[in-house]
Amino acid sequence: MSRLVIISNRLPVNVTKQDGKFGYRDSVGGVATGISSLTDHGEKIWFGWPGIPAEALTEREKKEASETLSQKGCYPVFLSTSQIDNFYSGFCNRTIWPLFHYFSELSIYDESFWQAYKSSNQLFCDELIKHVSEDDFIWVHDYQLMLLPEMIREKLPEAQIGFFLHIPFPSFEIMRELPRRSELLNGILGADLIGFHEYDYVRHFLSSVYRICGCEHNLSKLQIDNRQIRVDAFPMGIDYEKYASIPAKFKNKPVEEEKPRIILSVDRLDYTKGIPNRLEAYESFLSKYPEYHGKVRLVMIAVPTRTEVEEYASLRETIEKDVGRINGKYSTVDWTPISYMFRSLPFEELSEFYYRGDVGLITPLRDGMNLVAKEFIAAQKNKEHQAVLILSEMAGAASELSESIVINPHHKDQIVEAIKTALDMPQEERAKRNKMMQGRISRYTVGRWATEFIVSLKEIKKEQGRLRTK
Ligand code: G6P
Repeated sequence: MSRLVIISNRLPVNVTKQDGKFGYRDSVGGVATGISSLTDHGEKIWFGWPGIPAEALTEREKKEASETLSQKGCYPVFLSTSQIDNFYSGFCNRTIWPLFHYFSELSIYDESFWQAYKSSNQLFCDELIKHVSEDDFIWVHDYQLMLLPEMIREKLPEAQIGFFLHIPFPSFEIMRELPRRSELLNGILGADLIGFHEYDYVRHFLSSVYRICGCEHNLSKLQIDNRQIRVDAFPMGIDYEKYASIPAKFKNKPVEEEKPRIILSVDRLDYTKGIPNRLEAYESFLSKYPEYHGKVRLVMIAVPTRTEVEEYASLRETIEKDVGRINGKYSTVDWTPISYMFRSLPFEELSEFYYRGDVGLITPLRDGMNLVAKEFIAAQKNKEHQAVLILSEMAGAASELSESIVINPHHKDQIVEAIKTALDMPQEERAKRNKMMQGRISRYTVGRWATEFIVSLKEIKKEQGRLRTK
């Protein structure tokens, strides 16, 4: 029976080694949750980097870690320190990530980054080929592995390969700036099904494929040699019930009356998330509406990420200076306007913030989807006091969460007024808006996302079979 083979840069299990002992920490992100709900698609195996540099392990230790991981269906691809620097921190996070999020001024092209990207994609391919066959369904994830579909196709010409991009696909005018644009597009075109969060990203991709590679398309179909490829939007959802059941956990817990109402923001500390813009808008709000002093508090959770990349380290400094400045300016003996946390919170703690938040303030400058916005809305289900979501129009999630207060993250005054409107919004209105959004995100869950993608991939296999026998 065919298996489902997932390949992503990171495995859903992170390996650590301390004092000679291994630790295995599950990191159950969105993809892992969606995949776990695919119960009728045969055995599932997963390839990816276990998060530890290859040099930290002896050959014997690698073998031991591989054996433990294989019991969880995981196959590690060990990256060396140089690959981590040049592939992961280099081409992935200093070239593609900024460019695809429209920060072209931060995107650096370096030949050694590119070489490392190619050789690391090849390494993933070589590991995979040892274990899979043409009967398996292969699903490649995200911008770190854009060359992989074509590499797999070379080795397994009849394999069914899907590719999903979790970040925005930029317009042709941005894509054309990238020196290796055609290699990357041809890499993705090795897949039979290519998925994006939004139809706009599909449009941008098709336009780049046409203008850079000269391939014409017919609606969402492309023909390369004798192979038909489908390109489509599959907006990723969340595990709705997990978040919608949060209020029940806190129902009988006496919550001391919230004095300052909570404005909540949760993101990875990344320049795409618009954190300085948000702080600037909050500062303006405090200056324009002094009657709210002591009555609101911004709880800002910034999760550490890619700390070895310079831009992330300098952004952290900027944010911490801003938080210090605002707190220094407005704090009183009983009130601090911002509570700032630079750490990752376990679900238990995060869910309490989702429960206690009165306003969700999510203002990315660009974001492929933004699942936090969906989680926050789901967590309002059955809550007595409904919160209001303020959401950037630059997040993919904005098209499904159109009843939130949608703002342009570059428009400071608009954010200021949105905070005021959110705090003043009558309970009935909040409940009405949240209910509509909950209806949508409870139907399009992450399980449905994964199922629709895999079912479409299987349909293509049948269709290609039919085309061949004609
Ligand atoms: C984004 C990317 C993912 C990535 C995640 C965390 O959501 O689309 O592919 O895994 O960020 O980033 P990291 O660099 O820590 O893997």
